[in-house]
Amino acid sequence: MNEPLRFVTFEGPEGSGKSTQAARLAARLRERGADVTLTREPGGTELGRRIRSWLLHRDEPMGHEAEFLLYSADRAEHLRTVVRPALERGGFVISDRFVDSSYAYQGYGRGLDLDWLRAVSAGILGDVRPALTFLLDLPPEEGLARLAGRDRLEGESLAFHRRVRAGYLELARREPDRWVVLDALSDSETLERRIFEEVSRRWPA
Ligand code: TMP
Repeated sequence: MNEPLRFVTFEGPEGSGKSTQAARLAARLRERGADVTLTREPGGTELGRRIRSWLLHRDEPMGHEAEFLLYSADRAEHLRTVVRPALERGGFVISDRFVDSSYAYQGYGRGLDLDWLRAVSAGILGDVRPALTFLLDLPPEEGLARLAGRDRLEGESLAFHRRVRAGYLELARREPDRWVVLDALSDSETLERRIFEEVSRRWPA
């Protein structure tokens, strides 16, 4: 596949507003006449929607490895049926979460070995990597207060969510050319403008 792929991902905790920002970016790019696929993980395919409902139900006990492999199964199907075809025809793909969520939540949060996560993910991703990733950074206290423990991960301890946040910031530090860290507490119009400026700078109309 020819580089650079027009692949933009949004990461951050629940309640950070990333889904709203992903949708606004998609709308702005479409106004510019771009071919845009707006999608999400988990749940961007039919199989993924089933996996999502398993994953997010609090009452089903599940080991951390199985949890990671289910997110990975969702990702494999998402890549095969949604992400790759859209990138191959030269379109933008905007995904609300991608593999960095697994590194942050299952790696830093759950404590699974990051090298194992990367090895499994390498087999799934092939040559597809996000070109640009926005982290909507938010103190866990703020995000959780907005949601009140709706699902399996949202019901996790504050310590867990602190590890996830620190993990995201570490991932961003390691790849500063790909990540843009934003303060999710900024007002949403400011965030929207900042995000669109960054995307326009990388892919001028
Ligand atoms: P969201 O759809 O509200 O963003 O929530 C999805 C949940 O799934 C969220 O708690 C983060 C979690 N998640 C992981 O733990 N690992 C992953 O790889 C992905 C994609 C999501």
